[in-house]
Amino acid sequence: MSRTYYIAGNWKMHKTRAEAAELAKALVSQLKGGKHRYLVAPSFTLIETVAPIVKGSNIRLGAQNMACEEQGAHTGEVSVFQLKDLGVQTVILGHSERRHNYKEDDALINKKLKLALKHGLEVILCIGELLEEREAGKAEQVCETQLVKGLEGVSAAELANIVIAYEPVWAIGTGKTATPEDADAIHAFVRKLIGKLYGADAAEKIIIQYGGSVKPDNAAQLMAKENIDGALVGGAALKPDTFVPIALFG
Ligand code: 13P
Repeated sequence: MSRTYYIAGNWKMHKTRAEAAELAKALVSQLKGGKHRYLVAPSFTLIETVAPIVKGSNIRLGAQNMACEEQGAHTGEVSVFQLKDLGVQTVILGHSERRHNYKEDDALINKKLKLALKHGLEVILCIGELLEEREAGKAEQVCETQLVKGLEGVSAAELANIVIAYEPVWAIGTGKTATPEDADAIHAFVRKLIGKLYGADAAEKIIIQYGGSVKPDNAAQLMAKENIDGALVGGAALKPDTFVPIALFG
């Protein structure tokens, strides 16, 4: 496979500054020389602490969300400029917890995504179906809608700054991982769709991470699959003992 594996830790709403600094330092030292691509995405309040620790290392700095406007009267939101000012390079958008618990829809996610690209941030666009949607045989349809609407108005050149994360909602934080075969089937579907929208070269190049209960004991099997190019890790990203073996697999 010509694509580089990309393994990202989404720290969600965990850790204080001291704890975040400790984790970031451990990761910088233990992932040194690691051959894949890495990212950590701490909470907004931790970014300034983590930024100087990961600077100059092989770990990119990410944020977990971003406002859809550049500035103004948006109480509680954080802007693209504020993220860039802290050294953020990547933003996770459309996470299922944003979609389902905070009611972010595809149009909003698309607006955020285009704003992030306009200002040179890399975007990890998350897609994925609910359990009832999978059981109703609608997993592909849901992912297609989220992908097509999320990428509306994005050019082929801009796509180079986008990573897709397939995170089946029923596998997030539940300990239930999709089987490598089931995950790969959706990844293959997503890659084909990217091919239809942007051409064969774009499809070959796009990085598609899997997320949902990725652990040291299942990561290698998942990423051995043809279309699984990395992982977006939640719970197991909170400790070096569990994140490092995932990040250094292979
Ligand atoms: P878990 O690894 O805890 O299931 O979380 C996955 C996830 O949502 C990463 O964004």
